[in-house]
Amino acid sequence: MPFEFTPERRAHLDDLLTHYPTKRAATLPALHLAQAQNGYISQDVMEHVAELLDLSPAQVQDVVTFYPMFFQEPVGKHIIRVCKTLPCMLCDCKKVLDHLRESLEVEVEGTTADGNFTLLEVECLAACDQAPVMMVDEDLYGNLTPEKIDEILGGITGKAAPAKAERRHGRG
Ligand code: FES
Repeated sequence: MPFEFTPERRAHLDDLLTHYPTKRAATLPALHLAQAQNGYISQDVMEHVAELLDLSPAQVQDVVTFYPMFFQEPVGKHIIRVCKTLPCMLCDCKKVLDHLRESLEVEVEGTTADGNFTLLEVECLAACDQAPVMMVDEDLYGNLTPEKIDEILGGITGKAAPAKAERRHGRG
């Protein structure tokens, strides 16, 4: 069945549109809404968003392919982003990545067999003083060790007490 916003999300989008000078200016928030509903931006999501914003699907696709926060394939329930930029590299982010790859049995850009986690490498997460750093969904975790990673992931999957994030990110 082709993608359509739920009535609630469509109402949210209609409200958002009143805050922008043009429909096109609301492309990013519209795509965030769509990804929150669908999990990723499929072709029919792009077509639906394009229709609502009076754009061509190609114009929407340009935006989707430009921003790394949009996924064009199905992803896991939780997204793990490991920073690979120099300060984290100097603090052995490879060890973090190796531990995640081994313990989750997943490769970079892959999704675990249970569909819980997708593992990504990303550029600086702006918390270099806490290197090595990763984000899980909206939460940032620094000064990582294998033990701390196990505690964090255990907290998310309910297998251990949740770890405390040093800093939390909001996403628009
Ligand atoms: S280099 Fe990793 S957070 Fe900045």
